[in-house]
Amino acid sequence: MTTYAEVYAGWKADPEGFWLQQAEAIDWVRKPQKALSQRGAHLYDWFADAQVNTCYNAVDRHVAAGRGEQLAIIHDSPITNSIEKITYAELQQRVALLAGALQARGIEKGDRVIIYMPMIPQALEAMLACARIGAIHSVVFGGFASHELAVRIDDATPKCIIAASCGLEPGRVVKYKPLLDGAIAEATHKPEFCVIYQREQENAPLTPGQDLDWHSFQQGASPADCVPVSGDHPAYILYTSGTTGQPKGVVRPTAGHLVALNWSMKNIYNVDPGDVFWAASDVGWVVGHSYICYGPLVHGNTTIVFEGKPVGTPDASTFWRVISQHNVRSFFTAPTAFRAVKREDPKAEFMAGHDLSCLRAIYLAGERADPDTIEWAQKVTGKPIYDHWWQTETGWTIAGNPAGIEALPVKLGSPTVAMPGYDVQILDEAGHPQAPGTLGAIAVKLPLPPGTLPTLWNAEERFKKSYLNTFPGYYETGDAGMIDEDGYLYIMARTDDVINVAGHRLSTGAMEEVLAGHPDVAECAVIGVADQLKGQMPLGFLCLTKGVNRPHGDIVAECVKRVRDQIGPVAAFKLAVVVDRLPKTRSGKILRATMVKIADNEAFKMPATIDDPAILDEIREALQTLGYAKG
Ligand code: COA
Ligand code: AMP
Repeated sequence: MTTYAEVYAGWKADPEGFWLQQAEAIDWVRKPQKALSQRGAHLYDWFADAQVNTCYNAVDRHVAAGRGEQLAIIHDSPITNSIEKITYAELQQRVALLAGALQARGIEKGDRVIIYMPMIPQALEAMLACARIGAIHSVVFGGFASHELAVRIDDATPKCIIAASCGLEPGRVVKYKPLLDGAIAEATHKPEFCVIYQREQENAPLTPGQDLDWHSFQQGASPADCVPVSGDHPAYILYTSGTTGQPKGVVRPTAGHLVALNWSMKNIYNVDPGDVFWAASDVGWVVGHSYICYGPLVHGNTTIVFEGKPVGTPDASTFWRVISQHNVRSFFTAPTAFRAVKREDPKAEFMAGHDLSCLRAIYLAGERADPDTIEWAQKVTGKPIYDHWWQTETGWTIAGNPAGIEALPVKLGSPTVAMPGYDVQILDEAGHPQAPGTLGAIAVKLPLPPGTLPTLWNAEERFKKSYLNTFPGYYETGDAGMIDEDGYLYIMARTDDVINVAGHRLSTGAMEEVLAGHPDVAECAVIGVADQLKGQMPLGFLCLTKGVNRPHGDIVAECVKRVRDQIGPVAAFKLAVVVDRLPKTRSGKILRATMVKIADNEAFKMPATIDDPAILDEIREALQTLGYAKG
């Protein structure tokens, strides 16, 4: 039997040979001759000389191999009480037709298409249709509001936007059309046309000259063939939160994406073609791109598209019902989802009647997996729970438990070990590698493996500044942590202003920009405080403009509404408090980390550079009014 240590050592001895060998599992139009090429100092591309099509690998090749009748997608929506099953052959037809209709309207290789859709199969079809003709999609999460959509429209400059008429949240229909129209009105760039998929729950009025109906637009179109693209062609752009309000457009390279995801399906998630795989996330996040859409389909699995929540749709039995009903082999979700189930049903009584014998293992990612949650999930399901750590930027696991090679012993609090392709190191501030057990910045020695970001969309300088410049020769992950004597990694905190709310990555900087736009707010700070359910929650401090004497409650309510309207409900921004001053260093830097420690009742060292320590007492008092910092 091959061990993880052997596989990892094999990769390290010959990284390019390792990935060329994994590339054999992909169907190429022109096979890569060369694995890695260098574009500039510390800038790399994988399989750039290859020609390939993502949609062919995700759909057509399975049909060609005689597996057309296998299910590609199971859509399970406890919100609409419906289940739809789509075979690979049906998916091929649907995607080819949509791609043909897009082509007929002038969408070509390299054009950008924004997709703003909820958890319905049409979202995957739209992604695959773009991939089929070499168009670059950018999916925007449905929980973002108009302004966030507008920012992405201006950055990606799409020729077309594909949207649905609505999303469905428990007890609420989220109308997408007004959000879409608001975004188009706000954006400087205007798409040439929009395609709207009308859902039964909301018939959106279409704007003549702008909107086309999903079905009528496809009538009479000829199915499109798969268009070959070069290995380094961007498969998609996915925007993610950074330090500022301007999101980063992570570029996913086509060939590396195919090779890495395909490798991960067996070696990490331990599924074989034909097995059912379920990632309970959303197509708007990287987990949705990699493990609802592309990974399972490229590998020939059946993927579940789930429109629901862990609790409340209708209750805490939903996960267990979906797993047993659809014969799920490997299940992937965020720790927060299990925390929600545990809170509602601590004894897992809702599991009764649901046979989980089909399930082999559960995978957690997206935020820190607290040991309590892992132990609970392990106890109630009797299955191994594997934490794994990765990011939008990488698109697949940096550190995990390679269960398909060898299931390593689980250490609570650790996502286990580095995957082949990643030379993970802990660095001090000067960039020196640290001894085992020492905390530091987590960095990955360059080059990063296939599938990871080669750059940011239209922002190479920002790419270098955000990831490459701090530690020359390394990719800076933005996370801090340590590696123990056995090579197990521990992720402790972000080193920047990114917070993680219910597994959703959010920028406190973006929220501060929105708050600062309130006419009565002179200065503000947003921090992430610990939350039992969501991991973290954003909390805002507001300093008011001199002379403002309106009730603070009104101003706070307006600020909460402002963030919801401009960033979206997903920001979950509900807590804010008015203070006179913010704690700062003598050079004027706001001491956010110290405020977090006070809120979470953690010990902290008084920052040596603090301007006025007395402000911290005012901050503590303000936090206490919100139920934090109670000591
Ligand atoms: N469209 C519109 N609104 C959305 C949305 C979407 N796609 N997704 C979430 N929202 C809204 C929610 O309805 C909620 O609105 P509210 O303030 O009116 O209640 C708000 O955004 C905050 O959402 P969330 O933080 O998800 O909280 P919740 O209370 O709705 O649900 C959990 C809590 C734990 C059940 C939920 O967060 C969850 O399932 N998390 C798993 C996370 C996950 O899969 N992450 C992906 C990374 S792996
Ligand atoms: P995203 O890009 O949305 O996937 O968020 C990536 C960030 O989420 C990482 O940089 C971490 O801060 C955090 N994260 C993801 N997975 C884990 C994990 N398993 N443990 C701890 N933090 C995680």
